[in-house]
Amino acid sequence: MKKITVLGSTGSIGTNTLDIVGRLGEEYAVIGLAAGSNIGLLLEQVRKFRPKIVSLRTKGDAARFKEESGDPGVRVVFGAEGAEEVARFDENDLVVAAITGIEGLRPTIAAVETGVRVALANKESMVVGGAILRSKAAASGAEIIPVDSEHSGLFQCLAKERKENVQKAVLTASGGPFFRTPLAEIKRKTVAEALAHPRWKMGRKVSIDSATLMNKGLELIEARWLFDLEPAALGILIHPQSVVHSLVEMRDGSTLAQLSITDMRVPIQYALTYPERSASDLPALELSRVRSLEFFEVERERYPLIAYARQALETGKSLPVALNAANEAAVEAFLGGRIGFADIAAVIGAVLDGHRVCEAETLEAVLAIDRETRGRSENHIKKKE
Ligand SMILES: NC(=O)c1ccc[n+]([C@@H]2O[C@H](COP(=O)([O-])OP(=O)(O)OC[C@H]3O[C@@H](n4cnc5c(N)ncnc54)[C@H](OP(=O)(O)O)[C@@H]3O)[C@@H](O)[C@H]2O)c1
Repeated sequence: MKKITVLGSTGSIGTNTLDIVGRLGEEYAVIGLAAGSNIGLLLEQVRKFRPKIVSLRTKGDAARFKEESGDPGVRVVFGAEGAEEVARFDENDLVVAAITGIEGLRPTIAAVETGVRVALANKESMVVGGAILRSKAAASGAEIIPVDSEHSGLFQCLAKERKENVQKAVLTASGGPFFRTPLAEIKRKTVAEALAHPRWKMGRKVSIDSATLMNKGLELIEARWLFDLEPAALGILIHPQSVVHSLVEMRDGSTLAQLSITDMRVPIQYALTYPERSASDLPALELSRVRSLEFFEVERERYPLIAYARQALETGKSLPVALNAANEAAVEAFLGGRIGFADIAAVIGAVLDGHRVCEAETLEAVLAIDRETRGRSENHIKKKE
């Protein structure tokens, strides 16, 4: 029996993961869950999966959860330490890291330190703490298996390949809801329009990142750490159908690709069953129905954040941390109605202009740079309000 813990169980990846665990049957059990404040959904999950430990964001949420569940069999913890305790739970065989943003970093590090397999969806933790996670994984023996569909695709394409044979690894992007919008109209787009992703149903933050294409920028940096590839060997193509998740160009002229239906449960299941593959009852990919697969270069003017992400990828050190912090702050301000869609890029550009690159190889350094950058981001956001 494989014992699974899900960090971020009430989110889009978390609920899809539990759906897959339910479909996989008796060989898989849920042992721990960490959520934010969606008590109702966490209660349902606890009743269905009977974990031994759960965590909520605040002490108040934990108290309300205990009162409503009345279940003496489950240990209830809370806060950042609570999520870390769930991540370190000694019965875990596999931890799915699916908390959004840098808040997922500490629990992800905690899971990696225990040496268990970690199925990583929380790309921000790899963006800000790639060096830390890699060295902790090397020390503990933890394997990090990607959940992001593009990285799962690369992982599968690269499985039997030697790195020196790889010429280029290409991540595809749907282009988001504004791929075909006239450029002059994009700046007037509302939160609801930016959240209406044409292909994927995801959490709010990653949906906005998809509309700006920052999601793909973060994924470039994530791929650099996951696959130890040089920045020049990483590329992006817009592929509106989202059927090909990634491509690997080999030096002999062959290109390998991974394809599937547009459903996160496919890469999630692979991360849970790896290196095995279990039968799936999800719909099969029918290419004769898809009919055409299109690919386009990224338009710089439409997606200005890609240039910042490239710069962060190439410079490394503290720049990816600053990029992520400025992006989290700007996206939150946009979702809160404080700034417009085009202001996201303007705020990030201004914040990065004022950033002095330094080392970021310890958790303390990463968290300090994150804090400092959020403070400066807030100043720029206020100027746009
Ligand atoms: N959704 C996708 O298809 C997709 C695809 C690839 C990668 N990803 C990545 O996967 C991660 C999760 O994305 P998502 O779309 O699933 O996000 P989401 O729907 O917003 O879910 C986030 C989850 O994290 C929980 N959470 C937030 N802050 C927390 C905290 N401080 N402590 C404990 N739990 C906390 C939330 O709890 P509550 O809701 O209870 O507050 C929720 O369960 C992101 O890094 C994203 O980039 C997502």
